[in-house]
Amino acid sequence: MKRFPQSLVLAVSLTLPSLVLAHGGDHADPVRYRQSGFYLIGWHFGPMAAMIKGEKPMDAKAFATHAEAVANISRLLPEGFANGPHKGKTDAKPEIWKNPGDFADKMKAFQEQSAQLAQIAQGGDTGQIKAQFMKTAETCKACHDDYRKD
Ligand code: HEC
Repeated sequence: MKRFPQSLVLAVSLTLPSLVLAHGGDHADPVRYRQSGFYLIGWHFGPMAAMIKGEKPMDAKAFATHAEAVANISRLLPEGFANGPHKGKTDAKPEIWKNPGDFADKMKAFQEQSAQLAQIAQGGDTGQIKAQFMKTAETCKACHDDYRKD
């Protein structure tokens, strides 16, 4: 059995606290958390939209990977809205925390439709993929219309 060299263990145990501390207060910023999540979602949604619009050739395998990423990240988002409103530079409207039930419904619709998209994308049927992509995009818009500043 191989053992980690003591010097490596020591180096890691010394570096870890300073890595965590180097980020200062940022490690607990919910605004940054959710904006990062949406940034990742936008990152994966863009190429799918381009394929749907025919701006890029349909690549079913790449599409399925992007769809899977969006579905996974969608499950993390509620964490970034918990116990708000939060201070900071944000486009989130305070109405989110006045209508928590409605906001949660819109979040759930997005999570469900994006999970469905990831599943349908596995099948590779372009017609079905297009229809489900539009349904998913509608859940983005439904929430942005009410809860995101333009
Ligand atoms: C349940 C509500 C909700 C849903 C669903 C939703 N969004 Fe958002 N989105 C928001 C809110 C609120 C913000 C503003 C966050 C902030 O600034 O704190 C935002 C911000 C963003 C941003 C800007 C992120 C940044 O860099 O600051 C992008 C891009 C984005 N959303 C894309 C999407 C896409 C694409 C979808 C669907 C696939 C989607 N969103 C679904 C509520 C939602």
